Amino acid sequence: MRENATLIINDQRYELPIVTGSEGEKAIDISQLRSKSGLITLDTGFANTGSCKSTITFMDGEQGILRYRGIPVEQLAEKSSFMETAYLLINGNLPTQKQLTRFSVMLNDNSLVHEDMQQFYQNFPRASHPMLILAAMVNALRSFYPELQTLEEEINITVTRLLSKVRTMAAMSYKISRGHKVVYPRPDLSYCANFLNMMFDSPVNPYQIDELLVDALNIFWILHADHEQNCSTSSVRMVGSGRVNLYAAISSGIAALWGPLHGGANQAVVEMLKTIDSDGGNIQGVIARAKDRSDPFRLMGFGHRVYKTYDPRAKIMKKMCHRVLGRLNRQDPLLDIAMELEEIALKDAYFIDHNLYPNVDFYSGIVLRAMGIPTNMFTVMFAIGRLPGWIAQWKESMDDPEWKLARPRQIYIGPTQKDYVPMNLRENTNSAKN
Ligand code: SDX
Repeated sequence: MRENATLIINDQRYELPIVTGSEGEKAIDISQLRSKSGLITLDTGFANTGSCKSTITFMDGEQGILRYRGIPVEQLAEKSSFMETAYLLINGNLPTQKQLTRFSVMLNDNSLVHEDMQQFYQNFPRASHPMLILAAMVNALRSFYPELQTLEEEINITVTRLLSKVRTMAAMSYKISRGHKVVYPRPDLSYCANFLNMMFDSPVNPYQIDELLVDALNIFWILHADHEQNCSTSSVRMVGSGRVNLYAAISSGIAALWGPLHGGANQAVVEMLKTIDSDGGNIQGVIARAKDRSDPFRLMGFGHRVYKTYDPRAKIMKKMCHRVLGRLNRQDPLLDIAMELEEIALKDAYFIDHNLYPNVDFYSGIVLRAMGIPTNMFTVMFAIGRLPGWIAQWKESMDDPEWKLARPRQIYIGPTQKDYVPMNLRENTNSAKN
């Protein structure tokens, strides 16, 4: 039975259809609002606005639920691999063994980066941030692979090319930034083991694959693989809606993710914890600053636009910190600080009243530190994990018959009409104002 919302404006009634999702979420479909009433809606930051209908990821912010194609992220973290989860997100179902083997072969076949692209790295200033380099290099892939992305086969090649090469590019960027020889991908290693080997293998100190770290990296990337319509995914969909190529759309997602309020938070959390550590553990000072509305400081890794309870990914990430550090027989003072910070914050009325809990970024940096990943690459690690989600969301939008060029409206609050002022009269006008 069709459900409607009734809007009454100046005694005029407008019936707007209500859309109900498979998990019972409801939305008022306002796609005909302007043509019916002449009005638009205003929702800065889109906190109350759905941009699309999607079958990929379900989140319940109040219950702390996250599922990819219906499967709880906890089960995937425990039983799946990052590549199997990537296949699930992009294709909509878990692969058969035959499908997974073919997918892995395609990833291996597409894992090398064109030698000419290595020159690009040489021309970035040494201090360039790896996210800047990654966004530029992904965009540049188009110049090496200019084929159309219309046929299913072409899209599949582009997808596996991106998944495989982005991982190689990230490791290359790290090696070149240190002036070290680039390590090439090996066909005998899994996706995650290959990345660690490309990052840390060297002629003087051959890298020993540690299955615990490979397992931790699989889980890390599974936890980051998709998160419905977050800032960077919405950027990929919006840029893709102009029908630009996939490389450019993904490059826009990388740029959006870089921000410290979004994916850049994992780097900001570790920098915050390091500052607390160097300040002699002044946790109360940090808590006080976070609560002070006159202070722009935010407790990085805390709070979320959707989760108003503990981020389910943060729970798994926290356990992983203990497992990886325990196995490596290592202590990290930043983990102790993070846990004390969490304990104090979760008992504080400000954080309770504002529904502020640890999000995926609060503990993820500590796992990456344990793996030996440099801090300025933390968001690159997030981007590699999120790539299957961005691709899946882009594909879904391209296949959506209702999807069209994304073009929000606005409410103008600037000056009403006025005439052009010749230069000789401007001085008086402006000086009268200044
Ligand atoms: C990610 O969207 C996704 O799904 C993103 C992500 C994904 O997987 O793609 O989950 C990944 O980006 C996680 C978030 C990482 N960012 C951080 O950890 C940065 C710190 N967090 C905050 O900046 C903030 O919590 C946001 C940006 C994440 C969400 O903020 P909102 O929803 O825009 O809320 P808001 O900024 O309007 O804050 C509401 C209130 C304010 O207080 P009042 O003015 O109402 O009194 O909560 C306060 C804020 O001051 N607040 C915080 C806080 N976060 C919100 N106060 C202190 N510390 C914080 N971290």
